[in-house]
Amino acid sequence: MKILILLVLVITINATELQEFQDSNLQFAADIYKVISKKNEGNFLVCPLSAQIILSLATVGARENTAKQLSSCLHLPNDSTKIQSIFEKLNNNFDIQLPYQFSSANKIFLNNRCDIKSEYKELAVNTFKAGIENINFADGENAANEINRWVENKTSNKIKGLMKKENIQIDALAILVNALYFQGNWLYEFGDSLGLRETFHVNENETVLIETMSQRNNFDYLFLQQRNRRGIFRITFRWK
Ligand SMILES: *[C@@H]1O[C@H](CO)[C@@H](O)[C@H](O)[C@H]1NC(C)=O
Ligand SMILES: *[C@@H]1O[C@H](CO)[C@@H](O)[C@H](O)[C@H]1NC(C)=O
Ligand SMILES: *[C@@H]1O[C@H](CO)[C@@H](O)[C@H](O)[C@H]1NC(C)=O
Repeated sequence: MKILILLVLVITINATELQEFQDSNLQFAADIYKVISKKNEGNFLVCPLSAQIILSLATVGARENTAKQLSSCLHLPNDSTKIQSIFEKLNNNFDIQLPYQFSSANKIFLNNRCDIKSEYKELAVNTFKAGIENINFADGENAANEINRWVENKTSNKIKGLMKKENIQIDALAILVNALYFQGNWLYEFGDSLGLRETFHVNENETVLIETMSQRNNFDYLFLQQRNRRGIFRITFRWK
């Protein structure tokens, strides 16, 4: 069975600009899901909003075709002023401690062959709550270590050794990193049923014994009859 955990952050919004952004976030989430689910057999956790933030920062730093392609895949306007204005209003300062821990940290590691303009650095820090720093891609081992140290720090040491020196291409210009840390409790917990071995029907002929957890409750459910009879249902984390 494949479990997708999609962190959907509900943002309270009033401005029309942000309502448009919410639509683009949903479209981007659907795109990302299609790509990742093709490559991943197993479970995965993805937060499209975090990816959208760091890619939007890259978009406002880009020009011409690059800017156009990035904004189109993010479903954002092809206009860097508009994108900046969205993120100013969004004020994505994600560092939530209670009742769940959520932090999302973004950073651009830029090849030290390129200079960072001070206006861009300010924009990264103030508008996108992200970091930007020059590193030496020619020294792959050190560059990977530096990125890994940052990721470890931002994920409470849960994600270690993300980059290997082979991942650092000497002629790359930038590496965009998003580190996501989430720990939460279910709104309705599973109690003592955790880990009970039960029969699971793989298809009409085949069964396996697997560890399960169960509870009886009402959940929102969407059944896609036409699409390989797939279903989506919503289990909520405690959020207030
Ligand atoms: C998108 O933005 C780029 C860079 O400003 C510009 O060259 C291009 O003409 C724009 N395209 C459209 C369709 O507005
Ligand atoms: C991350 O770095 C900050 C600043 O150096 C430090 O205060 C914090 O304890 C570090 N966190 C972890 C999990 O290492
Ligand atoms: C289940 O078994 C029947 C009878 O042997 C067979 O026709 C059918 O294709 C099998 N189904 C699957 C999904 O393997």
